[in-house]
Amino acid sequence: MSKPVKGFSKLTKEEKINWLADHYFSDKKNGIALLMQYWNEDAKLQQLHDEFIENTITNFYLPLGVAPNFLINGKMHTIPMAIEESSVVAAASRAAKFWLKRGGFKTFVKGTEKIGQVHFLYEGDKTKLNTFFETIKPLLFSKTTDITRNMAKRGGGITNIELRDKTEALDNYFQLHCTFNTLDAMGANFINSCLEQFARCLKDEASQYDLFTDGEKDIQIVMSILSNYVPDCTAVAEVRCKIDDLDEDKELAPHAFAEKFVRAVAIAKAEPFRAVTHNKGIMNGVDAVVLATGNDFRAVEAGVHAFASRKGSYSSLSDAWIEGDEFVFNIELPLALGTVGGLTKLHPLVKLSLEILDNPSAEELMQIVAVAGLAQNFAAVRSLITTGIQKGHMKMHLMNILNQLDATPEEKAHFTAFFKDRTVTHSDVIREFYAYRENMIK
Ligand code: MEV
Repeated sequence: MSKPVKGFSKLTKEEKINWLADHYFSDKKNGIALLMQYWNEDAKLQQLHDEFIENTITNFYLPLGVAPNFLINGKMHTIPMAIEESSVVAAASRAAKFWLKRGGFKTFVKGTEKIGQVHFLYEGDKTKLNTFFETIKPLLFSKTTDITRNMAKRGGGITNIELRDKTEALDNYFQLHCTFNTLDAMGANFINSCLEQFARCLKDEASQYDLFTDGEKDIQIVMSILSNYVPDCTAVAEVRCKIDDLDEDKELAPHAFAEKFVRAVAIAKAEPFRAVTHNKGIMNGVDAVVLATGNDFRAVEAGVHAFASRKGSYSSLSDAWIEGDEFVFNIELPLALGTVGGLTKLHPLVKLSLEILDNPSAEELMQIVAVAGLAQNFAAVRSLITTGIQKGHMKMHLMNILNQLDATPEEKAHFTAFFKDRTVTHSDVIREFYAYRENMIK
């Protein structure tokens, strides 16, 4: 076990790596060589990545793949996806192709409202607090003009500030519940800067407000922070087709397919244990695009799962039903995304991913991400109700096992053919692989 280390962040990258190697690596030379193997040869590019975070020691690669053939509102898209899970991009591509032949995806944005809150404590007369708030409200806006000027020029900014009494939940707890339009920016910095300014203004003004007693003048600011829960910043994506056109699965005839699909989604709506996994499949698509486009997938994850619980219990994010002779499948997702600011200008691959998407606005990106989620969900549920998930997964997994075994291209080709009609299990691949190698040596 290492002793606490002082001033670690001040060490050079090499010193940090040596410290790590001394304390943790079983094979120092190999460990250090491995870290350095992942450094970029281009020193400037490496420095850019080093400076994204503190204490960078190397880069951690994720594959960046693309899923082509997405028809969204009549326009073709190729969607970039950064993800390590082997079946995700293949599944997205298959779903895109399936719906390309059936009219594609239809999407729209329902709202773009972002939220931030100043949480504070006030002990005193509530009517006086309300009057005070109404008095200083214009000041809250005017004292943030330095922060909001540029955003306002482009049509965005603070849309509302509300005083909320939360004393039923917690003694003396109130908040300024604020809404924002941050246009093409995710807006975290903008929102947090505004909120911190509101908090300063609230405290200062309260301390000088003649109608307050001394105790009432002493408003306690607890914190000022945006909310990652954005139930009014959502995109909707939908696919629909004639039930008769659901005709690609050998295992199920179109009507049986539609009914089983709707039932599977109904189970995810009713049963939280299933809903979590159902939604995880959706997030396979969502996170991969969010990450490739330099957005904050933790923020999206947190907000999406809160949204999935908005009716009181955790439920499916997607819905499916039969309407006359049509099958309909849709999703609504809260997505606070940006296509300007943050990593979008800094990370060369993020810039390129946005270029692949034809440099979308934030609203366009929200719709593309919702489509990625719906497509992924379609692919997963389709597999689950027909062949089962393992067939496709294990095919992709086969390549991972072969890579672990350092298989040659010839061996990979041989085993891809060998397992084409066989079930892939880890132990079978290992056994067959060594038997094949031994045979080749003989
Ligand atoms: C695996 O990453 C995702 C699935 O489990 C999703 C689902 O069950 O719907 C296949």
